[in-house]
Amino acid sequence: MLIGVFDSGIGGLTVLRALRQAWPGHSTIYLGDTARVPYGTKSRATVVRYAHQIADHLLAEGIELLVVACNTASAYALEELQGLPVPVVGVIEPPARAAARATRTGRIGVIGTSATVASGAYERAIAALAPDATVHSIACPLLVPLADEGWEGTDVAREVARRYLEPWLPGRPDRPDVVVLGCTHYPVLRDALAEVLGHEVTLVDSAETTPRAIAPLLEGASTEPEPTHRLILTDGAVGFAATTRRWIGEPAPAVEVVDLEPQGSGQVRR
Ligand code: DGL
Repeated sequence: MLIGVFDSGIGGLTVLRALRQAWPGHSTIYLGDTARVPYGTKSRATVVRYAHQIADHLLAEGIELLVVACNTASAYALEELQGLPVPVVGVIEPPARAAARATRTGRIGVIGTSATVASGAYERAIAALAPDATVHSIACPLLVPLADEGWEGTDVAREVARRYLEPWLPGRPDRPDVVVLGCTHYPVLRDALAEVLGHEVTLVDSAETTPRAIAPLLEGASTEPEPTHRLILTDGAVGFAATTRRWIGEPAPAVEVVDLEPQGSGQVRR
């Protein structure tokens, strides 16, 4: 099966990597919208439009399953993408399910982009699975550029995380026992986040939970002896390509660059 995976940028590579490890017999196409990242500060209407453009591009490439490996796009556009002719899977339900299962105190924390937190998507997903749980969310927008820069193991990353997560530190009344890393960049920062929160707090993320969630969709699909893997970005700046190689592990496929908004396609929206 050819699996399409997309993200606003390169964070979704954490999901791609986990998918490829879990399902090695399937081909993948990853599209990172590096020309328009971040999505986390944009409006629902813009994110939905971008998600449709990407889905159309990947459908034209022949994908048979679409994984929306971006929490922001999953929060804002998943419902809108359900009408596509292939199954579409987001990255919010799988960690929400894992969090609902793991909590003992019923206090679940969620961190994500401003858009993901504003959307309330995790609150809704968790409420459907664990109606008695309370969910407290914190937007952590500065964590994304830190991960992109490769600063995940630095004191700066730990200090930024500490500032954001202050309401959840030991002794605070809202301290959760499970925290959802609700952004596909955050698995890269897992060690720093665990250090700040304390190792007794369980961390769950989209990368570790999504591969299992697509199992029913892959059942019966034939595997390929030599699956292929393509990486497409909408901007091929050197930094993105270098981080892509670092995150995906070797050997990384060559990066292809596409333009999803060809010249002349612009229209004035009123
Ligand atoms: N990949 C995005 C997410 O998971 C974070 C980066 C962005 O703001 O676009 O929400």
